[in-house]
Amino acid sequence: MQKQISVSGIQPTGTLHIGNYLGMLKGAVDLQNSGQYDCFYFIVDLHSLTGEFKAEEKRQQILEVAAGCLAAGLDPKQSTLFIQSHVPAHTELGWILNTITPMGELSRMTQYKDKADRMENNVGLFTYPVLMAADIFLYNASVVPVGDDQDQHVELARTIARKFNGRFGQTFVEPKAVHTTTPRVMSLDNPERKMSKSLPAGCIFIDDAPEVIKKKVMSAVTDSGSEVKYDPTNKPGVSNLLEITSALSGKEILELEILFTGKQYGEFKSYVAQVITDYFAPIRERKAKLLKNPEKVLKIFAAGSAKANKIAEKKLAEVYEKVGLI
Ligand code: ADP
Ligand code: TRP
Repeated sequence: MQKQISVSGIQPTGTLHIGNYLGMLKGAVDLQNSGQYDCFYFIVDLHSLTGEFKAEEKRQQILEVAAGCLAAGLDPKQSTLFIQSHVPAHTELGWILNTITPMGELSRMTQYKDKADRMENNVGLFTYPVLMAADIFLYNASVVPVGDDQDQHVELARTIARKFNGRFGQTFVEPKAVHTTTPRVMSLDNPERKMSKSLPAGCIFIDDAPEVIKKKVMSAVTDSGSEVKYDPTNKPGVSNLLEITSALSGKEILELEILFTGKQYGEFKSYVAQVITDYFAPIRERKAKLLKNPEKVLKIFAAGSAKANKIAEKKLAEVYEKVGLI
């Protein structure tokens, strides 16, 4: 029987943080390891050009993220791992989809509105979700493991799929976003905002040293009370730490609340820091080892590109035929 297909992409814009890991990577690895999915995971270098960057830093950023993904458990023996720009069909299908995507739909994207407000606007930033839809459609993905900030983009992909299928006949699968138990990890220094590379002060990176983790967790913003209780509305900081700790330790939130009944935040935070440190220690070690041999990392992703190209070219040929290109 044909397995379901899982597709996701990650931008090479800096070191991965525990929000990326818990919101997306862990989910992608779990789907891979379940044996129930054919997985395609890639570094979306073309998407990352829509942000601010220096050309001389891009190669290092790609290597960083590639090594981070491997260290976190993406396995080239089980998943097809590659770099988006190595598979030209992504951009080619992106163009076709541009021609059927209404401007109005793209204008509603909150990520676009947010970014366009904060940085120099560019057309790529606007059509970003169209290229993302192409990424998903080329492999007939039905599931897309992402953090919840990407839901709107996946929903738009569904709209584009329906529009194309309605006009040219059944061609694209309508994908669904799938989430881990932590689809939105909040920033440590501002628990009202999501943890993001663009706010590095509130991030724990997957290869932060134990003393750095400790320092960041101990100074994480919590409320003025003293009770370790899960209450995202009134205690967003404590609740965020509880969610992170539960996901990494496998302990239920209730179990953690009981463990820290009558104890101070300081004691709780020391525990949280230890859980994070222990969990990421082997990932940190594997990543450092991989980065000692960058050529090997790139070779793994190049091998994946060859496999992806074959599948993507076939889908693109089907699309060209459907729209009447000869
Ligand atoms: P960032 O916002 O740090 O630049 P990316 O946009 O590169 O991160 O996101 C890569 C993946 O990680 C996406 O699937 C995104 O939804 C997920 N992700 C990013 N930040 C978080 C977070 N704080 N919590 C959960 N998932 C996240
Ligand atoms: N837009 C996603 C992000 O910002 C990255 C991405 C690009 C993606 N193409 C994708 C995610 C395809 C899932 C599927 O994080």
